[in-house]
Parts: sequence; structure tokens; C-alpha cells
Amino acid sequence: MPMDSGEQRTSSNPSERIDIEALRRRLVARAAAVGVIGLGYVGLPLVGAIAGAGFRVVGFDIDPVKVAELNAGRSYIRHIPDADIARVVQERRFRAVTDFAELAAVDAVLICVPTPLTRHREPDLSYVVGTTEAIAPHLRRGQLVVLESTTYPGTTREVMRPILERGGLRSGVDFFLAYSPEREDPGNSQYSTTRIPKVVGGDGDAALALATALYDQFVAGTVPVASPETAEAVKLTENIFRAVNIALVNELKTVYEAMGIDVWEVIRAAATKPFGFMPFYPGPGLGGHCIPIDPFYLTWKAREYDISTRFIELAGEINTAMPRHIVDRLQAALDERTGKGLKGARVLILGVAYKKNVDDTRESPALRIMELLEARGAVVAYHDPFVPEIPRSREHAEFAGRRSLALAAETARGVDAALICTDHDGVDYRLLVQHCPLVIDTRNACARAGVAAATVVKA
Ligand SMILES: NC(=O)c1ccc[n+]([C@@H]2O[C@H](COP(=O)([O-])OP(=O)(O)OC[C@H]3O[C@@H](n4cnc5c(N)ncnc54)[C@H](O)[C@@H]3O)[C@@H](O)[C@H]2O)c1
Repeated sequence: MPMDSGEQRTSSNPSERIDIEALRRRLVARAAAVGVIGLGYVGLPLVGAIAGAGFRVVGFDIDPVKVAELNAGRSYIRHIPDADIARVVQERRFRAVTDFAELAAVDAVLICVPTPLTRHREPDLSYVVGTTEAIAPHLRRGQLVVLESTTYPGTTREVMRPILERGGLRSGVDFFLAYSPEREDPGNSQYSTTRIPKVVGGDGDAALALATALYDQFVAGTVPVASPETAEAVKLTENIFRAVNIALVNELKTVYEAMGIDVWEVIRAAATKPFGFMPFYPGPGLGGHCIPIDPFYLTWKAREYDISTRFIELAGEINTAMPRHIVDRLQAALDERTGKGLKGARVLILGVAYKKNVDDTRESPALRIMELLEARGAVVAYHDPFVPEIPRSREHAEFAGRRSLALAAETARGVDAALICTDHDGVDYRLLVQHCPLVIDTRNACARAGVAAATVVKA
């Protein structure tokens, strides 16, 4: 695909000022070529949104397998249809590459690489730094570089800018740097990438103007803020808000459980208040790439200011304790109803993805629950229509390659208990309850499916 960015290519003469207005018009006209680095759960839908708006998109990833799959028109993420990828590849609006030299041909670069925690639960910026170092030698005058990965305030200007400026180009003068957090909610068909407004903070006015001009072409509005640090803080605030509120309902669940009150009924009734209440739901613990991790980016950065983030720590503590709580509930229910302990008990886990209707098992509490159950001597199998085989992960390498059992009457009859960790749609909860001697339900899935039985225990 020809990727020449056309007649308005920015001058490479350092004495000439960049024509920012010409660049902005080029973005608004959708005549620019856009690079997306990191073709994962965030980067791939973003590619679809940008290409869908008429831009030419080059996707960069270090994984040659993903690149080959995408160029063949195949999506490797279940909730992104093959047809969406195949269409933009066929129309020559998208291609994926591993060679960063192709960055020279794009006008804007959006970075969506992972930002995990290290083993010591500190921010691991190695992907962001590695990517920035890979961009630096190809950076040219007039390019816009935007970080989308979730991170602590200061990353864009304190970590990325010095690397990008090493070659002598200056941010705000020769190239333009911004931060705009991704707000992707995988599997949410109501709010796909284009329907979610985007917060943007620029390193200077020109960067802000260019970044908002680009995003305005393919999302439901932009929200400009004072700086990249503000935009970085916005994203962390959104995720901390969720982490803390989920911890709150998880704590309330344990209290109401002891009192014989159904927390789900409490939340449903409380949510009828038309103001001042927002429902959050308890579960088996936090999962996914964001909510269990991102809050600790702020905790780490806050230490530089000698401030401790007690709400975040407490929420982390409560949410992390949930898998053990669920296993204790299962053990108690088995004991009470069958006189059996966990040792030797056959347990079927329903749903190992971290949330419903996605195939992502990163940080999934189901895996921690499996680990705890096996440590207590249980024999564990799982059913998950979205995860036919558990992928390798750093924390749970022992489960890599385990395969999902089909959910049939014999499967349900053949276990001592089933434990619903993730409430995927399309699972036959009625069949499960009909045939399984004990069902521990951490998501209220049975009640929502209209199935009630004395053998169902909410946990
Ligand atoms: N998944 C979500 O729901 C979600 C939502 C909002 C924000 N985020 C944030 O977005 C960022 C990306 O998350 P994700 O879930 O898309 O991760 P992901 O692991 O699905 O995708 C990251 C991709 O980047 C590639 N990659 C890694 N290093 C690279 C490099 N140096 N150069 C090029 N490609 C590289 C990987 O091969 C992978 O394809 C993270 O900061 C995350 O916190 C994720």
C-alpha cells in the first residue's frame, strides 16, 4: 500500500517553522497516515475506528504472528470480527508491520502498549520506554506522538519526551506530544471505541490542537484538559473509582452474608434511588489488565510526594482477599450440605475469563481460585465457551494448556460443586442447576437467568 503522506509533507529543514495549521487541516481532511503501536485489546479496535473514518493506518507490533494474522484479514481477538479486519485490509486502508522504519511514513503515532506491574508491584514502563526508544530514530519534524497506555502522571513528559528529544528535535516546536487515555471496554457493544469521548492533554497548545483534531475525526467528541499530567490523572481516577467502589460492595457482601441479607437485592433496591447512588456489583475478585493494576501506578508516584494512598491500598486489600473468601464459602457449603471437605472434591469452575463475554484471562480471579482450590486438594476442571484453552501467563503457568469441558448434564452431575466465577451469556445455568449437587454463584447469574434452587449458594 502506498503510504506516502502526500504533497503537504512537512519540511525537514530545521530552520523552517512547522506549519501547524496545515498539519491540522491535513488531519481534519483525513488525508494523514496514522500509525498505531501495539495491536492488542486496545490498539486493534482503535485501528478499526481510525481506518473506518477514512485514514490510512499502519499497525506496528513486535509479535510477528499477530501481524501475519491481521494482514491475512483475521482477528485474533474473539469479540473483534474477522470481517472488520479483512475489510480494511482489502480496501488497503490498514496493514500491520513489525518494522519500525515504516514510522517515517506516518503523520501521527498512537501508542497502545502494555503497562503492567513488576513482580514487586511497581509500574513496569519497559514497554512504553522500549516503544519510545524505537520511535526516536525515526521521528521526523511535524509528527504527532500520542501515548494512550494507562500510566502515572508525568510519564509522557518526564519519561517519553527526553527520549524523543535525544536526536535534537524539540517537543512543541519540531514534533508534537500528547497523552490521551484509552477507555476501551472490551465486549461492550453499546460503547465501542468511536462512541466514547476522549480526554486529551497536550505538551503545549499546538500538540493539544493537533491531537484533538485527529481524535475528533473518529470518536464521539474530545475533552481537552490542561496538560498530559491531567489526562494521565483522569484515566487513573476513573479506574480507581471503580476499584474502590467494587471493594466497597465486596465488603458489604461479606457483612450482609453474615446477616443473611442478599447483597444483590440490596443493590437492586438501592439503585432505584434516582440520584446519589450508582450500582457496583460484588464478585470473586478483580480481574483484567486495568482495574487491579492501574491504581498502583498512582500509589507508586504518590510516594515521590510523601503521600500514602490509603483508599487505594485498602480497596486492593479487600479485592485481593475475595478469591480466598469465595473458596472458604465453597468449603463451608460443601461441608454443610454434603459433609465433605475440599480435599478430593471435584469442582467445576464456570468462566475463567476475567469478565463476561470476553476471552481475556489476564489477572482473572478464577485462576487464583483454581490455584487455592488445588492447594487444598480439590480436583478442578472448568467450562468457558470463550476460553477453549487457558493461555500461558506469568502468574499461572501451571494452568497453561488446560482445556474447557463441554457443559452437559453428565459434566454437572459428575462434580461435587460448580463455582460460577464469570457469568458469560449463553451458558445454560438452568442445566447446571438441574444436574449439579451444589452451585456457588459469585455473580448472581442463576437468579438473573430465572433459576432458583436450594442448591444454589450466593457468594
Ligand atoms: N484491555 C483493556 O480493556 C484496556 C482498557 C483501557 C486501557 N487499557 C490500557 O491500554 C494499554 C494496552 O493494553 P491492551 O489490553 O491493549 O494490551 P495487549 O497486551 O492486549 O496489547 C498490547 C500489544 O502491544 C504489543 N507490544 C508490546 N510491546 C510492544 C512494542 N515495544 N512495540 C510494538 N508493540 C508492542 C503486544 O504484542 C500486544 O499486541 C495498557 O496500558 C492498558 O492498561 C487497556
